[in-house]
Amino acid sequence: MRPRVLGGEQSFECRERLVAVVRGGGELHHTGEALGVAGSDRREVGWHLLQPRRLYSGTNEEGVAMPWPAAELHVHIEGTIESEFLVAAARRNDVALPTYDPAELTARYVFADLQSFLDVHYSNLAVLRTERDFHDLALGYLTRAAAGGVRRAEMFFDPQTHINNGVPIEAVFAGLGSALAEGRETLGISADLIMCFLRDLGGDAAEEMLRAALPFREQFIGVGLDSTEIGYPPSLFTKAYAMAEVEGLHRVAHAGEEADPSYVWEALDLLKVERVDHGNRAMEDVDLVARLRDERIALTVCPLSNIALKTAPPALRDHPLPRMMEAGLLVTVSSDDPTYFGGYVDDNFAAIEAELGFSQQQLATLAHNSFEASFLPETEKARLRAEVDAYLVRSR
Ligand code: ADE
Ligand code: ZN
Repeated sequence: MRPRVLGGEQSFECRERLVAVVRGGGELHHTGEALGVAGSDRREVGWHLLQPRRLYSGTNEEGVAMPWPAAELHVHIEGTIESEFLVAAARRNDVALPTYDPAELTARYVFADLQSFLDVHYSNLAVLRTERDFHDLALGYLTRAAAGGVRRAEMFFDPQTHINNGVPIEAVFAGLGSALAEGRETLGISADLIMCFLRDLGGDAAEEMLRAALPFREQFIGVGLDSTEIGYPPSLFTKAYAMAEVEGLHRVAHAGEEADPSYVWEALDLLKVERVDHGNRAMEDVDLVARLRDERIALTVCPLSNIALKTAPPALRDHPLPRMMEAGLLVTVSSDDPTYFGGYVDDNFAAIEAELGFSQQQLATLAHNSFEASFLPETEKARLRAEVDAYLVRSR
């Protein structure tokens, strides 16, 4: 048992257990003692934090405490790289790290703003070299996500980062693709990929990236826009998004995380996005709020990320989430980069319940919204919304 207390200025305390996901003889299972696991047919596939069940307010039919069923619509697969995984991959691939002590690495995850996080995040990604690295990372996340109630994950990945690190695009798609297939089969979790363009590399690089990814068109469902926001407005990517639309890809973009509401307007008007990632600063513009509300454009809000990157007031109890919901916005809750920001999607739900005093009904609305805003077929959405309704009845 390794308890970890979430840091920063959050006043709630959340204890978690570090659990390794290991594979033995083709089976996938959890163990708290994976470092001691022996046998040549067993190997770690990822290290992820598993939440103890006592934090959950609802139960399954047998009365066992369970997390809310939800869709995670804003998670960067690279941001799920737990420190133990980072160290193991660095050793395996002979990549230098500032320290090989996972606890020390994690202790360094204190950020002044988005850019200071991105600098650490992208530097860490040098450890990802092989198809196996991508497979293990994604399967570790899917295992942790499924344990936290996630039924559907629409996961971002940043191929430009990996290509610039000398990794062939084939290895990225093969590793992620096989993890999604395995997650579907062994965990019953539905997952798809959204390819992000790094906005600080500019519009021409985005177009080039999309062209290079088209041979793998069946392996991703949409495009997104991430990395440094201020100074790189959506207008730079109009052509890349138009190409994506022609290819029948979904379109989302980070906007209004740090930058002003004009970035959200541009994402809507020029990129024709179907969801806005973060979008917190849209609240500064009443006309924009009305547009988002009337067109039912979802915002994928990430409360623990906002606290960690100082894109929201320092105390979670002052987060704009309740005001966004009162304004009639289709708000969802996600983790963004759970390793760095102190929690997965169920941890975000638990934090909101503890700090914002959300009722079971409000949490159910967020869970409903997550399926509503997903890119799943309508029949699947309806089935999963019914699961939320059943959970709500048991949680009262
Ligand atoms: N890449 C990973 N996390 C991000 C975030 N919160 N904003 C922009 N780019 C990111
Ligand atoms: Zn993000």
